[in-house]
Amino acid sequence: MLRIVPSLLSADFGGLAEAVGEVSSGADWLHVDVMDGHFVPNLTIGPPVVASLRRHSGLFFDCHLMMDNPGDYLEAFAQAGADGCTVHVEVGDTASLLAETRRLGMRAGVALNPDTSFRAIEPFLAHCDLVLCMTVFPGFGGQSFMADVLPKIEQARAALDRARSPAELEVDGGIDEETAPLVVRAGARVLVAGSAIFDDERPWEAARRIRLAAEKALARGPRQG
Ligand code: DX5
Ligand code: ZN
Repeated sequence: MLRIVPSLLSADFGGLAEAVGEVSSGADWLHVDVMDGHFVPNLTIGPPVVASLRRHSGLFFDCHLMMDNPGDYLEAFAQAGADGCTVHVEVGDTASLLAETRRLGMRAGVALNPDTSFRAIEPFLAHCDLVLCMTVFPGFGGQSFMADVLPKIEQARAALDRARSPAELEVDGGIDEETAPLVVRAGARVLVAGSAIFDDERPWEAARRIRLAAEKALARGPRQG
């Protein structure tokens, strides 16, 4: 199963509900980037915006918490209508954050930065519903895809397969029609894309093109063509 997940970070923040409407037909989930100005040098949105968007969309809200203290906000995200929350392994306390996320009825994800080794998340694979391999350093949309993360995506895929884990493998950063085939061949199945979708005049079509490129690569099989 392949999921194309538009990131609202590159949408018009003055018209988020419209942006969601525009992209919905090409989206499996919606990715909500939460930045606290500490873990990353940027500020975005929080639970009140998620609650407002919830009234406009039935899509799965995949919240990416780029924060030093996600534990202080998990309950607020759950109440706002988030379906999944992903915390960064770099902030620590990962086991209890994942457990708390699940306890609140959300799917629990663990993210790792491009320079964090796969070993950092290994202990948590059996306790999460999603692994997010960042393919840029978090903080801003529109950055270039880092191909040197591909071996780590392969490592994560192999580990999840070995454990017969149902956890999803997500990538985020610089995903477009060119890079989607690479990450899919490496084993990712949940593809977040921000600028490649929302910089397009027809975001739903941009999402479809990314899906097509990824599906073609999947059909061709791993590491070919
Ligand atoms: C980066 C965010 C991403 C971002 C991706 O910090 O976590 O979700 O929106 O944007 P693109 O697809 O433009 O790299
Ligand atoms: Zn993100």
